[in-house]
Amino acid sequence: MKDFVNEINKRRTFAIISHPDAGKTTLTEKLLLYGGAIQQAGIVKGKKGARAAVSDWMEIEKQRGISVTSSVLQFHYQDACTNILDTPGHQDFSEDTYRTLMAADSAVMVIDAAKGVEAQTKKLFKVCTMRGIPIFTFINKMDREAQNPFDLLEEIEQVLGIETYPMNWPIGCGKEFKGVYDRNAKEILAFESVGKIGTQQAATIEARLGDSNLDELLGASLHETLRDDIELLDGAAYEFDMEKVTHGKLTPVFFGSALTNFGVEPFLNEFLRLSPTPLPRNSSAGLIEPTSPDFSAFIFKIQANMNKAHRDRIAFARICSGKFERGMDVLHVQSGKKIKLAQSTQMMASERETVDEAYAGDIIGLFDPGIFSIGDTITTAKTPFAYEGIPTFAPEHFARISQIDTMKRKQFVKGMEQIAQEGAIQIFKELGGGMEEVIVGVVGVLQFEVLEYRLKTEYNVEVRRTGLSYSQIRWIDNDDIDPKTLNLTSDTKRVEDFKGRKLLLFTSPWNITWAEEHNEGLRLSEVGKA
Ligand code: G4P
Repeated sequence: MKDFVNEINKRRTFAIISHPDAGKTTLTEKLLLYGGAIQQAGIVKGKKGARAAVSDWMEIEKQRGISVTSSVLQFHYQDACTNILDTPGHQDFSEDTYRTLMAADSAVMVIDAAKGVEAQTKKLFKVCTMRGIPIFTFINKMDREAQNPFDLLEEIEQVLGIETYPMNWPIGCGKEFKGVYDRNAKEILAFESVGKIGTQQAATIEARLGDSNLDELLGASLHETLRDDIELLDGAAYEFDMEKVTHGKLTPVFFGSALTNFGVEPFLNEFLRLSPTPLPRNSSAGLIEPTSPDFSAFIFKIQANMNKAHRDRIAFARICSGKFERGMDVLHVQSGKKIKLAQSTQMMASERETVDEAYAGDIIGLFDPGIFSIGDTITTAKTPFAYEGIPTFAPEHFARISQIDTMKRKQFVKGMEQIAQEGAIQIFKELGGGMEEVIVGVVGVLQFEVLEYRLKTEYNVEVRRTGLSYSQIRWIDNDDIDPKTLNLTSDTKRVEDFKGRKLLLFTSPWNITWAEEHNEGLRLSEVGKA
């Protein structure tokens, strides 16, 4: 029993969120190098087809040289067992990216020091705030020209609405970058450029601000700036408050440079010290503690077609309590069926391995004979319960999809429904309408191509796609409103989703405001409640 609790308390399950190009892949690689999970950089994402990608399951991924699916990377470092949930970012941004955040206990936000807070970071941050999980910030690329660090903090606070606490402070940037000052240890971690990919340990120098040796090390001007900055921070900035960190109200901020491996190790150490062990989760039976002896997990992602020879699917489950053992019998709560978890995999950097044991906090991939849906619960508990479901996130791209060959209606409907059930796309119908023509909504445009490709290869159906100019969608929260009676701009469309929930499609944010102003009591939501 003690071992079991120990194992769970070793777990740290987190996602890295960022805008494309901020350095998420580079940072992930450096973290994996520390954990010894990979031997060389460049293996996490076979960018430009250079090396094998972690997930190249689908033909389309190979063609594009990108990863469509997010994966989970586990590594051990010191006493911790760390699970990094990869959140796809480039063109492969999809609803899965959001859903992955539902399985994380904390998040690391990577920000490009020259660019500050960017669009995709904002979107992902919003989902993290919704969950109230701790968020750690790594301000990257300090070896390049960067914005003023005070301005960066101000931007994080203003744009994202979270307080900041710099754990270290940069000394110069770009060619003038001298390192960072650790506010707690009161020492300087000196930066030495060691070529493009530095992996060596940076030197730490005990530093009393004001000492003359710092003039030599940093130059008189940077030394003076550092002294002034630290004085300002100590006097005027937010205090470190663990309670606020835990609830995602204050983010510890670290400056560094992932590419040159500068500041990564101290970041990892602090992150492991401050980030939470697996968190309890809300369920129909109240909060379930991770150390509760019964195994339980929820499905947060479904991946189709891992093996092209079979039309099987892998359901990714986040273990929320207890211990998983391969071959165990569990109850699939939503169907009421008992199932044996005989086939299970775990992602270890570049390989997929069979996993025999796993603990609360871990992610496992389960063979799915087609019974799982996103948000489902499996458990061994005698009194079954269901975890709170996963909300539906607002798609941003819409198209009308219809089958070209009307004789293939059955395959079309089946394909569309199955792909939607996996959560790869959302489908909307005219109010009270059928499946002749449907509106498909996706978070990332690549999903349209994935849809067309899969309908063709798996269901033998060719479709016609007509892009639509809607860009926003809102779920109508009022149960008692008939959408037909709403006063809306002429370009706003009324639809329903597959759960029968009523929605509105808008061509601009302006129209949303218009709808709210002209319909008293109308409550619109950016996420569809589970
Ligand atoms: P992403 O996953 O967030 O999209 O970013 P990724 O790590 O792929 O990094 C984007 C680019 O930024 C890469 O350059 C990477 O080498 C560079 N980069 C990441 N961290 C740092 C850093 O700390 N300092 C500097 N100077 N550059 C950094 P690229 O030229 O686009 O790709 P590559 O040819 O180097 O692979």
